[in-house]
Amino acid sequence: MIKATFLLALAKVIIVAATILAVAFQSSGPEPPKFASNAERHQWVLNTFLPWMEQFRERYHNVPRSDGEFLKWLVIATQRKKALEIGTANGYSAIWIGLGLETTGGHLTTVEIQPNLVKEAKANLTKAGLLDKVVTVIEGDALKVVPKLDDKFDFAFVDIGPKALPFVKVVLPKLTENAIIAVHRPPFEGALSDYIEMMKKEPEWLTTVIQTGAPTAIVLSVRQFKKH
Ligand SMILES: C[S@@+](CC[C@H](N)C(=O)[O-])C[C@H]1O[C@@H](n2cnc3c(N)ncnc32)[C@H](O)[C@@H]1O
Repeated sequence: MIKATFLLALAKVIIVAATILAVAFQSSGPEPPKFASNAERHQWVLNTFLPWMEQFRERYHNVPRSDGEFLKWLVIATQRKKALEIGTANGYSAIWIGLGLETTGGHLTTVEIQPNLVKEAKANLTKAGLLDKVVTVIEGDALKVVPKLDDKFDFAFVDIGPKALPFVKVVLPKLTENAIIAVHRPPFEGALSDYIEMMKKEPEWLTTVIQTGAPTAIVLSVRQFKKH
């Protein structure tokens, strides 16, 4: 009888400990090992850390992995050096863009309004080996923060939901002559139609919608003529 009670108590202790460990693992994710090179760290981020983050994608409204891959590809293919992101959340897309910028020798500034998310993003970017070195996270309302930035950016990613237009309007004056602006379109009927309509009327911008991670898409604009 005593033995059965002891075994039951032991089982309970094991279950509680396992639950605590599982919650701890879920909240902070896998720890990075020591890396021999940046390439090795990138492989760990791509194959271990990002897949862990992807379990919580819906909670943080992260872009799909296919969009992340596309953003990184775009940064490297067009050799971007100075990037701005609006809507960091927990840093998922910032990690993809940051990996691309680490390859090109560039830097990303990303803006998030929610302090708890800024904290999580910083923790995730630290594990990816990108915080401060490649990615700077600014806490605040992008509508107020961006107009005060001194820098000019050759790449912007706006990921703020269906009502992106006011955010794009503060980003546009901060872009260089050869800039690319990517706006994430969530899967809502008519999302970003006001933005797409505005950009298609602007002769200096060439705009296309890329169905990167159906049903979401990226509205991609590149300057085709210089500003007059
Ligand atoms: C769709 S989520 C971003 C997801 C992120 N880009 C990713 O894929 O990992 C949009 C984020 O924008 C943030 N946000 C909303 N309004 C904002 C504002 N005025 N300034 C800065 N961030 C804002 C939200 O808190 C939210 O975390």
